[in-house]
Amino acid sequence: MNPNESLDGTLTGLRVVIDAGPTYEDIDPVRFLGNRSSGKMGFAVAEAAARAGAEVTLIAGPVALATPAGVARRVDVRSALQMHAAVMQAVQGADIFIATAAVADWRVAEYSARKIKKGARGTPVLELVENPDILAEVAARDPRPFVVGFAAETDHVAEHARAKLERKKLDLLAANHVNEEIGIGADDNALELIWPGGSETLPRASKSELAKTLVARIAAHYHARHGKPA
Ligand code: C5P
Repeated sequence: MNPNESLDGTLTGLRVVIDAGPTYEDIDPVRFLGNRSSGKMGFAVAEAAARAGAEVTLIAGPVALATPAGVARRVDVRSALQMHAAVMQAVQGADIFIATAAVADWRVAEYSARKIKKGARGTPVLELVENPDILAEVAARDPRPFVVGFAAETDHVAEHARAKLERKKLDLLAANHVNEEIGIGADDNALELIWPGGSETLPRASKSELAKTLVARIAAHYHARHGKPA
């Protein structure tokens, strides 16, 4: 981030909702389907947004992270359905929604209230059903907040990201290339910012530095759309 670029007050008076971390989809009382998201990027974005003056609601999947300084409200959830419900409630009247969570695409069709036993009926086959797309659903609301999505891609990052931006009707999309060193679960990240009229590369940096730059860009795009408050 340009050291002269200040976050101070760029989001003052705005309500920002951020979802973060993975979701866990329970199979039975001891097993679940999860993913490698740590929540670090979303928590760093929440901290930067709070520092920029926003009233931040952070909706967190199962993560081992302390609530960042300045965050007004934290809602802890476990599953995609719980995250969906919490986000839909929080985005009412919100100005900006930033979807950093790695929401599970599927959940098991039928949760077993009893631990599934080995051997009783051979190898179990899990039937999966699709989870709601929280981001697309928020973007389809009318009125809707300024909507920022994330995308983790392993290949053809720019192409896949632009297709996602259009399909989900987003205002801004932050795409990252997932590999061993950066992205999911790592401390560093690099982002390709994409919006309907252009794109910008935010080079590799720590997630907290990158989050500050990202929030500064989100504020700039938001104000370009809505006109800066006097
Ligand atoms: O389509 P894909 O999962 O790659 O899109 C990633 C973006 O969509 C992220 O911003 C993620 O938080 C959001 N998403 C969501 N609900 C889902 C799946 C993804 O909000 N069920």
